[in-house]
Amino acid sequence: GLPMCPLPQDDDYRALSLSGHVGFSTLPDQLVKKSIGRGFCFNILCVGETGSGKSTLINSLFNISFDDPVSTHFLPKVKLRAQTYELQESNILLKLTVVNTVGFGDQINKEDSYQPIVDYIDAQFEAYLQEEWKIKRSLFNYHDSRIHVCLYFISPTGHFLKPLDLLTMKSLDSKVNIIPIIGKADSITKSELRNFKNKIMSVLVSNHIQIYQFPTDDETVSKMNAIMNGHMPFAVVGSDEKVQIENKMVRVRQYPWGTVQVENENHCDFVKLREMLICTNMEDLREQTHAQHYELYRRCRLEEMGFRDMGPGNEPVSPQEVYEAEWSEFYLELQREENELREQYVQRKKEKAAMFKEEKQQQLAKHEHQMQILEEAHLKLEKKKKVLEDEIAAFLEKKVKTELLQSEASISAIAV
Ligand code: GTP
Repeated sequence: GLPMCPLPQDDDYRALSLSGHVGFSTLPDQLVKKSIGRGFCFNILCVGETGSGKSTLINSLFNISFDDPVSTHFLPKVKLRAQTYELQESNILLKLTVVNTVGFGDQINKEDSYQPIVDYIDAQFEAYLQEEWKIKRSLFNYHDSRIHVCLYFISPTGHFLKPLDLLTMKSLDSKVNIIPIIGKADSITKSELRNFKNKIMSVLVSNHIQIYQFPTDDETVSKMNAIMNGHMPFAVVGSDEKVQIENKMVRVRQYPWGTVQVENENHCDFVKLREMLICTNMEDLREQTHAQHYELYRRCRLEEMGFRDMGPGNEPVSPQEVYEAEWSEFYLELQREENELREQYVQRKKEKAAMFKEEKQQQLAKHEHQMQILEEAHLKLEKKKKVLEDEIAAFLEKKVKTELLQSEASISAIAV
C-alpha cells in the first residue's frame, strides 16, 4: 500500500487577518463568470397519465412551444421520452432536458408502471458514476442527464391519491426531488381543491413519502419558501392558447362561462410553481440531486461492490485496502472454482469410463445370450433333421419292400 501521511487536525490551523487587499475576495465573481460561460443544465421529469397536461404545462412554464408529440393510450409498457433544448435568457444559457412518461397509467396491470421510471433515473446516475470512475474524466463538459426534479401530475379527481400514484412516488422519493402538482386544476372547485390538497398531503405523510421541500435555510428566500411549502401540492393550469389582455399576450383557457388565466394567481398556482421551480430553487434542486440522491445511489453501488469506509471493528479502511482484499478474495474464489472444475472433469472422465465398461459388458452378455439362442435353435433343427432323415429312411425302406412285394405278386400272376 501507499505510505500513510498524518492528516492535519482542525486545531492545526491558525486564523490570521490580512493587513491589505490580496484579491481572493473576487472568487465569487470568478465562479459566477465561469458558470455563466459554461451554461447550466436542468433536467425535468414529468410523470403523469397520458393526456394529464404534461407537455402543455412545460410549454407554459418556459413560455415556448416545444412541439411534444401526442402519445397513444395503447402501449404495452410505460416508456420515457427525453428531449433536450438549449434556451437562452439574457446571457444565460440553459440546457433543458424534459423527460416525459409515455403510456403511464394506460396498462390494465399497473403493478410495474413505476419500474421504467426508476430504471431511467438509475441509468442517469450510473452514467455519471461511470464518468467519475474514468481515468480520463471530463466532468466539466459532461452532459449531466441526472433528473433534478420530478413534477408528479396528480389527476384532479378531488378524491384520494390513486394506489399507482402512491406506489410510484414511494419508489421515487429516495431517487429524485418530487414536486407533486394537481394538473388541469381548472376542473376542480375552490373548496374541493382545499380539501383535496389537505387529503393529498396527509396521505403522503401517512405513507412516509418524502416530497421536495423548498429550503428555508437561506435567509433571502426562507420566508417565501416556507409559505410555498404550505401551498403544496400546487394546483396548476396550462394552455397553449394566448389572447391579448391589457396589452399583454397571456395564456388562457376559454370556456363558454369564462376564461381561466394561467398566470393569474387567483385562478391557479401556476405562477407559484414557476417562481419556485425556475426563479428561486433551481440551483437547490440541482444541488440536492448531487448531494443527496446521487450520493445515496453512489453509496449503494459502492457497498454493493464490497467497498466500505469502516472495517468490522469500526476502524477506517482505505479504498486501496478494500480493493486488495476484494482482489485476493476474488483470486481465491477463482482458484476454488478452477479446482472444482478440475475435480468435476476428473469425476466425469471416471464416470464415462465406468459407463463405457458397463456398456461393453452389457453388449458382451447380449451377444452371448444371442449365441446361446442360436445354438439352441441349431440343435433343435439338427434334431428335426435327424427325425426327418429317419422318416425318409423308413419311407424308402417301406417303398423298397412294397416294390418287392408288388414285383413278386406280378411274377406269380404271370406264372398262373
Ligand atoms: P401525452 O404527452 O400525450 O401523454 O399528454 P400530456 O400529458 O403531455 O397532455 P397534453 O399537454 O398534451 O394535454 C392533453 C390535453 O389536455 C390537451 O387537449 C390540452 O389542451 C389539455 N390540457 C392541458 N392542460 C390543461 C389544463 O390545465 N386544464 C384543462 N382543462 N385541460 C388541459
